[in-house]
Amino acid sequence: MKNKKKICIMGMGYIGLPTAALLANRDYQVHGVDINQHTIDTINRGEIHIVEPELDTFVHSAVKSGSLVANIEPAESDIFMIAVPTPFHADKINEITNSPIPNVDYIVDATKKIVPYIKPGNLILLESTSPVGTTDMMSNVLKNEGIDISNIFIAHSPERVLPGHIMRELIENDRVVGGINDASTLKAAEFYRTFVEGEVLETTANTAEMAKLTENSFRDVNIAFANELSILCDDMNIDVKELILLSNRHPRVNILNPGCGVGGHCISVDPWFIVDSANGKAKMVEQARRTNDYKADWVVEKVKNMALQFERDNNKVPKVACMGLAFKPDIDDLRESPALHITQELNKKLDVIAVEPNIQDFQGLKLVRYDDACNSADILVFLVAHKQFKNLDIVNKQIFDTCDVING
Ligand SMILES: NC(=O)c1ccc[n+]([C@@H]2O[C@H](COP(=O)([O-])OP(=O)(O)OC[C@H]3O[C@@H](n4cnc5c(N)ncnc54)[C@H](O)[C@@H]3O)[C@@H](O)[C@H]2O)c1
Repeated sequence: MKNKKKICIMGMGYIGLPTAALLANRDYQVHGVDINQHTIDTINRGEIHIVEPELDTFVHSAVKSGSLVANIEPAESDIFMIAVPTPFHADKINEITNSPIPNVDYIVDATKKIVPYIKPGNLILLESTSPVGTTDMMSNVLKNEGIDISNIFIAHSPERVLPGHIMRELIENDRVVGGINDASTLKAAEFYRTFVEGEVLETTANTAEMAKLTENSFRDVNIAFANELSILCDDMNIDVKELILLSNRHPRVNILNPGCGVGGHCISVDPWFIVDSANGKAKMVEQARRTNDYKADWVVEKVKNMALQFERDNNKVPKVACMGLAFKPDIDDLRESPALHITQELNKKLDVIAVEPNIQDFQGLKLVRYDDACNSADILVFLVAHKQFKNLDIVNKQIFDTCDVING
């Protein structure tokens, strides 16, 4: 215990807890901090409050051996890591770009909380996905709180793990590490090399911040292109799936699949961080965000028109089944989900039932089993390609398949 390096991790969520549990099983003494007492109590019982494969085993063994302890308050450490949320401000809008404004208040709070425990030689790491300049801002917060930042090390290393594979990807993924100066970069890279088997790539803090935002914007822009094609093809009476298959036979073309929009807490959020700080210059990144959001509204209009036509043809109000609410297949995560948005919008005007095999209920929506929906609905709107929706036996129904699950 004596020779173990101590690390204090601020934020015991999807990123902080797996990192804490991994390091605690790798010869670090970990002090996990959260503002939520229930989270602290759960971890200290050796249990977990989030769903992630293998995490329970790691946490259980770390707590049992005494190498992971959770607390509301930070403690003295060699290394401090900040992995708190970076959402939007609920009540503010960037008036130049009419776009959401990132909220870094959680980072500021966590930074101020560790101030009393910082000693010369400490390494302070920011892992939260952050607007460019946040690591420098964090250094200024520390300076203003009376810390001499000339004898500590401060760096950013964005997390790029995929939920569902976090324990493996924490080790295997390449990592980008950027300090506020060369010494900080080196010190941080040295730390990550103690457990990362991927390559640890050294850069500046600003570049590391922008790298994470760039990765998610790249995905967003490419999906926007596919979504735009799907809308154009609908007007032109062209099968978008066939079109993309044919176009991708070009040796240097690789178009992604369209869907009902883009969701989740990363790809549909992080590009706005670039837009917010670009003073109107991030035109393509912004347009991609708006195109992907528009795709969901376009689906709503298409389904409303289908329902109207059904009513005219059959002289009865159709029952519409929205198939899938999550933001991607085979998960229960509804954050920023376009499928949920579409279902809620349709539910305001139509007779809607919803199917989400991965959750039990959702306030305001009538959730049914997928076989019941297939029997009782007149129009089936497939929004998420969950495995349960493949190979369904559907007879005599109108179908609107936004995610190519029926013939996929
Ligand atoms: N979840 C992912 O797959 C993923 C992937 C890459 C990057 N990220 C980024 O990592 C960061 C953290 O995301 P997450 O998914 O772990 O969030 P999360 O909401 O699961 O966890 C954050 C935790 O921080 C706690 N917290 C808030 N303020 C605090 C404070 N001042 N001190 C201590 N704890 C505090 C919260 O109670 C919560 O438990 C975000 O910036 C996110 O964008 C997440």
